[in-house]
Order: sequence, then structure tokens, then C-alpha cells
Amino acid sequence: MFTKLRNKFLILNMSITSIVMIAAFAIIYFITYSNIHSEIKRKLSSGSQMQITIEGTDLPENTQKGGTISSVQNFSTDGPLSFSIEVDADGKILKVDSFIDMPDEAYSKAAATAWSNKKNNSAITLEGKQWQYAVTRMSKHVILSNGQQYTADENKYQILFLDVTESDKTLFQLLTTLLFVGLIMLFVIFLISLYFANRAIKPIAETWEKQKQFVADASHELKTPLSIINANYDALLANQEETIKSQIKWLGYIKIGTDRMATLINDLLSLARIEDVNFETRKMPFNMSNVIHDVMLSMEAARIEKRINLSHSVVPDVIVKGDSERVKQVVTILFDNAIKYTNDNGQIEISLRKSKRHVKYHITNSGKGIAKQDLPKVFDRFYRADPSRTHEIVGYGLGLSIAKTIADRLGGEIHVTSVENDCTTFTFTLGV
Ligand SMILES: Nc1ncnc2c1ncn2[C@@H]1O[C@H](COP(=O)(O)OP(=O)(O)OP(=O)(O)O)[C@@H](O)[C@H]1O
Ligand SMILES: [Mg+2]
Repeated sequence: MFTKLRNKFLILNMSITSIVMIAAFAIIYFITYSNIHSEIKRKLSSGSQMQITIEGTDLPENTQKGGTISSVQNFSTDGPLSFSIEVDADGKILKVDSFIDMPDEAYSKAAATAWSNKKNNSAITLEGKQWQYAVTRMSKHVILSNGQQYTADENKYQILFLDVTESDKTLFQLLTTLLFVGLIMLFVIFLISLYFANRAIKPIAETWEKQKQFVADASHELKTPLSIINANYDALLANQEETIKSQIKWLGYIKIGTDRMATLINDLLSLARIEDVNFETRKMPFNMSNVIHDVMLSMEAARIEKRINLSHSVVPDVIVKGDSERVKQVVTILFDNAIKYTNDNGQIEISLRKSKRHVKYHITNSGKGIAKQDLPKVFDRFYRADPSRTHEIVGYGLGLSIAKTIADRLGGEIHVTSVENDCTTFTFTLGV
């Protein structure tokens, strides 16, 4: 399932990146192509000739009467890269202007090809080179001796050829470079996308696995009290004639079962509520020292029953800004564990200290402690260390995960240290 999701991520990412890259490269190519071609067109159109004919007698001395005095302006600058052929209305060559050393047949072939396909700015291959040409009707500009001027079309055409081999080569090189760079970039993008897709999927997969495990564990835990209730209900049913008083044992077991289910469901609801993104914690100043004293008092009976000795050093009137109910829940969970997992006649030590930025609540209890390898797992849901012992002690392994979630929500921390067969210490730190 997650491989499919990752592949979808990957395909989506690759498609978007490829489209953006192809679009960028196409724009680069198109801009270069149109720049080169408009430059070629400009050269071809500015290279057309116009004949100037001057008629009359009182003309400046340096003018050539009735002659052609103007030639191609840009033509000469591109001399070695261009040539022009003058043809009559039937395509017959009248004149060739060229700086290039080419055989006459080449010019005839060029003129014939261009004349048969008069489409401007077409290209032909000649002498191993690419030529672009433009066919323009020639005109003459006549200046009369009385100063009047007019332009008249002639029955002649000029075909101007421009060598575009280099431009074509440049465009081809640009295309191959873009293709090459594009392929390499796609490959690199693929590797990067794969890395990030894997990274993005990992926490989702982990959360999904945890959630699945959670549902399985919760169902499993609910099965035990349910089967207790069922078995005792059957026992009651089998002795229908008996009085309630004589059956009180079975009823007591049913009560234990329902109590256990109620505790578990309450814990599950509590976890769900705290983990809800909309869960809000209050930020009100409260007396943390009093909260600790309240919890100690509420658990006094359970502690005395196990003959546990309690010593405490709680700095009075430590004021903390936060959610007092949630803080009390954490302190209760830690205290409840301390009583549960301390050996009879054991010892519990509590302290509350305040520094500039934090308050630290320590609770240490004697007992078997927690094995080093189990320490990081004690905050996992439904985790109970030392299974040989835990079946004697009631619990679902949810207390510490609730405490940790609350601490996270309050911006605090919970840490545990333990020395096996000696003691265990939990530290709850909160910002003031
Ligand atoms: N103070 C402690 N001393 C020794 N072991 C502890 C202590 N607190 C917790 N543990 C170990 O960590 C495990 C997880 O504790 P947690 O409070 O999450 O669950 P629980 O006490 O087993 O059940 P629940 O709190 O749901 O009633 C316990 O089963 C126990 O093995
Ligand atoms: Mg507990």
C-alpha cells in the first residue's frame, strides 16, 4: 500500500518537474530560434537592391547618369556569407553578385530552385552548406531633373542567398545540449524525488503501523474483561434458583470486569482527546506544590496499604503557568506507578524544584526497576515491562503514554532512569 502511495508521489512529482523543465527548455529554444531567424530575415530583407536612375543634365558631378549607384548595404558586410542573383521574369539569370568561389552550375541550380519555389525565407542545400533565400521584385527609384521622384517596379527579380549553416548548427547544438541536460536533470530529479518520497512516506507508514497495533492491542485488552463478564454471567445462569447473596461472588467478578473495561475505555478516550489536534490546554498560573500535595493525599490509602515509606521535599508555592488538571493527571500517573511497582515496605521519594526557567518534579521508587533495553519502550502504548510480574499488577500499559502525550502538549518533558533491582526515577519538567 505504501509502495503504491510512494510511487504515486513520485509520478506526480516527476510529472510536474518534467512539465516545468520541458516548458522552460522549449521557451529557451523558441526564443533563440526566433531571434536567429528574425536576424536572418532582417539581413535578407535589408540586402535587397534598389536601382537609382537619374535623368536630366544639371545634376551633381559625382552622380552617374542613368546608372546604378546604390547597391546592397548589408550585403557587403556579410559578403563571404551571401550572394545574390538577378533573374528576369522567366527566372533566367541576368547577373550574379558573389564573393564566394562557387561553380556556375551551383548558381544556376540555386536560382532554379529558388525560382521554382518562390516562397520567401525557404532554405536550400548548396555546396554542403545551408542557404536561406528571399526573392524580391526589383524596383528603380527615378529622380527627374526637375527634382520629382518616383519608384517603379521593374521586370527583374533579385534572389538573395544567406549562408545559415552556422545558425542551424548553433540551433542543433542548443537542442542536443538541452536534451542532454534535460535527461541528466530528470535522472537527478528522479533520485532526489525518490529520496524525499521515501522520507515522506516513512512517518506515515510508521503512524499507520502504530495505529494498527493500537487497535489490535485495544481489542485484545477489551477481550479479557469481556470474557470474565461472560463466564460469570454463565455461572449465574446455571444457578438460577440461588439467591443473589449466594451468587455475590460471580456478581463481584462481573463488577471487576466492567470496572476494568471502564478504566480501559476512559484511558483510550483520554488518549484520543489529548492527541486530537484541536485539543486545547489552558495557560493559567497555578500552584504546582499544592497539586503534588493533593495527589499524595489522594493516594495515601494505597501507599499505607503497601507499607511504603514516603519522603518528600517539595518547594512550597511553586507557581507554574499551564493546565493544572493535565499536570495533576501526569503527577497522578507517575505516583500511581510508583506505588504499583514499589515492593512492599519500599520507599518513594518526591521532590519539586524550581530553576529560572523550569520546574522539575522527581519521583523515585525502590523496587525491581526497569531493564535498560525496556527503558525507551515504557512510553509506548500498551507496553508493560516484565510480563512475569505485570499480570499480578492491574494495568494496561497506557498510563505513561498518556503522561508523555500530555507533557508534549504542555511543552514539557518526561524522562526515566532506572537501576535494576534498586530504583526507578521519573522526571517531569515543565517550563514556568
Ligand atoms: N515507577 C516504576 N517503577 C518500575 N517500573 C515502572 C514504573 N513505572 C512504569 N513502569 C513500567 O513501565 C510499564 C508501563 O507503565 P504504564 O504506566 O504505561 O502502564 P501500566 O502501569 O502497566 O498500566 P496503566 O498505567 O495503564 O494502568 C509498566 O508496566 C512497568 O513495567
Ligand atoms: Mg501506570
